[in-house]
This record gives sequence, structure tokens and C-alpha cells, in this order.
Amino acid sequence: MSTIEAVVRPLLLPSTATHEDRLLLSAAEHNRAARYRRAADRTAFIAGRAALRRVLAHQLDTQPWRIKFGRDPCPACGSPEHGPPSIVSPHTRLAFSFSRSGNRVLVAVSQTGPVGVDVEIVRPVDVDAMARQRLSPKERTYMARLPPERRQEALWRIWVRKEAVTKASGIGAFVDLTRVHVDPQAFGRVTVSHRWGRRPGMWEVRDVDVGPGVTAALALPDFSRARFGCSASQTDRRTTTAKGNEPPS
Ligand SMILES: CC(C)(COP(=O)(O)OP(=O)(O)OC[C@H]1O[C@@H](n2cnc3c(N)ncnc32)[C@H](O)[C@@H]1OP(=O)(O)O)[C@@H](O)C(=O)NCCC(=O)NCCS
Repeated sequence: MSTIEAVVRPLLLPSTATHEDRLLLSAAEHNRAARYRRAADRTAFIAGRAALRRVLAHQLDTQPWRIKFGRDPCPACGSPEHGPPSIVSPHTRLAFSFSRSGNRVLVAVSQTGPVGVDVEIVRPVDVDAMARQRLSPKERTYMARLPPERRQEALWRIWVRKEAVTKASGIGAFVDLTRVHVDPQAFGRVTVSHRWGRRPGMWEVRDVDVGPGVTAALALPDFSRARFGCSASQTDRRTTTAKGNEPPS
């Protein structure tokens, strides 16, 4: 058994990306930013990337602009196009996970194993449709027994747990999420089974408290006893959403 440590950083993004933010990004990131048609989405991408680089640079003791990103092969199909993101340079064992919802960002870094995070601003969703499409039978039973006023929050809590696990496993959310059971009746910390390729098959998933109206989760291999350095380094920066893969709507 090894001990996995994760540093979890919740952040608030600005409504505008600064000149300093832009200077931190690579040419590839600028190209990606330019592909967003809506200015708000471009801004969100740039500010999010700059925030991610600053968090990682602090952990790596380097300059944010020096970091070169790559991708590990997808654990399902081996493609380098959509596998989990990785740090190519400087040479490091550091694994990270990044998530953004509106102006909320969550970054987790771990020196000792894969890690996954997801953050979502709680917003109205068609609970019944979502439950049918993405919840396990036991999760649906749990939801059906909840009073209606608690179902939205519960659905988002289940959702971020599932996304955190699928991101830690490297496959992403293009899996049958009805088969990823995240024990919604338990709060704080649960064990979830989900295996792809050589990545671990059991995950410890923790709810991360990032404030009212927002829900978030962290997933680490379950053979760990996760220790947290959770620092709420928040600024009053804001931005808008630019999501490539859609959470419930
Ligand atoms: C990973 C994924 C769940 C992200 O969810 P999302 O709700 O759209 O967005 P989030 O803000 O929470 O996370 C985005 C971040 O996830 C990370 N990410 C992307 N692909 C990932 C993967 N395979 N594993 C882990 N993390 C991944 C990136 O850091 C990304 O940030 P970026 O867009 O700035 O590069 C989603 O992009 C996905 O499912 N990707 C597809 C993977 C795929 O194609 N699998 C097919 C297997 S054959």
C-alpha cells in the first residue's frame, strides 16, 4: 500500500484574461483559444489555462510559461488525442487534473498517482432524464426516495463523483456512467470501482467543499490514505463557461 497525497486548489476566474495570463500560454494553447467562437469562451479558456499553469508551476518550482503539456495514451483505445493530460516538461512524476464550471476552477496535483477532479456549479437539470441516462439502478433508487427539493443537489453530487473517477481513470466521461456506482447515500468519502487499461480499478472519492451552490469531488487510487493540502486561494476573478464536453443540461 502506498500513500497518495493530493493538493487541491479551488479558484475563481476573472471575467477578463489579463496580458500576463496570455503571456503564459503556449502557441498550441493560443491556437486552441482562437478556435472558440464566443469571446467569453476564449477568455475562460485562457484564464483557466493561466490559473492551471500557476498552480503547477508552484508545485514544480518553475515558471508557469515553461511547462509543456502532453497527453498520456487513452487507456481504452491508446489514442494520444484524448487521453489524460500530462506534463512533458519539466520532467516530473506529478499528475494533475483540471476542471472548470463557469468561473469556478478546481485543480488537483499528486506526486504519487493518478488523480481526478470535477467541479460543477449547481444549476437546474432534468433530474429524471439524467437519472435514466447516467445513474446506476441503486443511484436511481436513492434519488427516488429523496424529497424533490434535495434531488438537484444530489444529482450534481453524484455527477461530480462520476466525472472525478472517469478523469482519474483517464477515460473521460464517454463511458456508460450507469455502470459507475458512487454510493450517493454516503457523504464525504466513498470507494468506487472503475477500471480501464493499466490504471487502478478502485478509487477513493471525496466530496470537496468549495462553497455554497457549487459541488466538487476528488478521486485518488483507493490503496491510498489521501492527505489533503486544500488551499482556498481565491481571487474575485470571474469568467464564463467554455465546455468541450457537456455535463447535465
Ligand atoms: C475528460 C472530460 C470528462 C472533461 O469533462 P468536462 O466536463 O467537459 O470539462 P472539465 O472542465 O471538468 O474538464 C476538462 C479538463 O479535463 C481534462 N481531460 C481531458 N481529457 C481527459 C481524460 N481523458 N482524462 C482525464 N482528464 C482529461 C483536461 O485537463 C481538460 O481541460 P482542458 O479542456 O482545458 O484541456 C471530457 O472531456 C471527456 O470525457 N473527454 C473525452 C475522452 C474521450 O474521448 N474518451 C474516449 C475513449 S475511447
